[in-house]
Amino acid sequence: MTEWTPDARELADLELLLSGAYAPLAGFLTSAEVESVVERGRLPGGASWPDPITIALPDEFGPGDRVTLRDPEGAAVAVLTVVERDGHHAAGPVEALDAPVYGPFSRLRRTPEEVRKDLPDGEVLAVTMRGPLDGAALDDVAATAEELDATVLLMPLVFGESGPALVRAALKAAERLRGATVVAVPLAPREDTEIDLELREHVARNYGATEHYAGPAPITIPGPPHKRGLVVFFTGLSGSGKSTIARGLRDALLERGGRTVTYLDGDVVRRMLSAGLTFSREDRDRNIRRIGFVAAEVARHGGLAICAPIAPYAETRDEVRAMVEEVGGDLLLVHVATPLEECERRDRKGLYAKARAGLIPEFTGISDPYEEPDDADLVLDTTDMTIDRAVGAVLNLVTAGGWVR
Ligand code: ADX
Repeated sequence: MTEWTPDARELADLELLLSGAYAPLAGFLTSAEVESVVERGRLPGGASWPDPITIALPDEFGPGDRVTLRDPEGAAVAVLTVVERDGHHAAGPVEALDAPVYGPFSRLRRTPEEVRKDLPDGEVLAVTMRGPLDGAALDDVAATAEELDATVLLMPLVFGESGPALVRAALKAAERLRGATVVAVPLAPREDTEIDLELREHVARNYGATEHYAGPAPITIPGPPHKRGLVVFFTGLSGSGKSTIARGLRDALLERGGRTVTYLDGDVVRRMLSAGLTFSREDRDRNIRRIGFVAAEVARHGGLAICAPIAPYAETRDEVRAMVEEVGGDLLLVHVATPLEECERRDRKGLYAKARAGLIPEFTGISDPYEEPDDADLVLDTTDMTIDRAVGAVLNLVTAGGWVR
């Protein structure tokens, strides 16, 4: 393998490395570069700030490898020459390939060089924005610009779902600050606010800023729960009662009304979305990721999705949760914890008997693992529980959280 698709944060950093916004950095940093940067003090902030500019690569990539980096849609963006590995991370210079630039407001993603060329001589007040500027902030910026006799450069830091809304806010603000220039910069937020600020300042300087104004942090008000996307994700052994409860939940929700419901039934998924997949670990993971992908798309539009696969691996369940939360949805994990003995005693499909007889290899609970969740929002053992009560418990959880009124 000589190619790799970095994650969203890494691709955002890559774009800034290639555009010169991170100059003098021109690649993912090696430990020696971090040291020399610290010693020579060429970059602000010392050792801590370059740390986030990293890329994780699979172990098979080693020093000397040239790796083509692609975006999720397959466009080859850059070549990374690996010069060092440090655990999961790799370091080395990147060279741009001729990738088409697309995406909302891509015309505003200009390089520092292009922007500097267009800015008039004199002071430049750069405003990095993670959220819209309210009236007070706008007045503040206008007054500061006046005082400094500066040109205003508005820099919405676009990353993730809210990017286009942020650019629209910047364009609106630019109208009010007559003559302001807008440039969209894909600078992913850092958890450490100090590092975040240093990076913003550094990038702003590269864009020609003589003054930097850090716009207010966004107040993220998530929508009300009854309008937010929700994924109810059942996990448990075959025969534990997942599908029965999931179907009961779907029916109860449809009877109540008020929300659309997508039910990703395990068997239907295996027939349609995941046709041809086996029960190896890789294929089970693929199956769960596909379910997660569809459920997250449903959640993105504020819908409610119910999923009921075995989903035996904790790591893969975590991935699904992350996919859903990334688009602003919530995920409820329901562990249908009916013990193996009971599932096997019921053996509705006769599969346990076959698995015991060695006719079905890699059978969950018999000859394949099931990792019990430790992060379930609800645990149900259906051994001595009616279906109605089990469905009622899930429904309670959903209504108590306000997802359904
Ligand atoms: S998962 O592991 O990828 O989440 P999934 O929920 O899609 O599994 O499919 C499980 C169903 O497939 C079981 O309910 C059972 O009917 C059937 N099945 C067939 N082979 C196996 C197997 N080796 N392990 C578990 N379930 C199997």
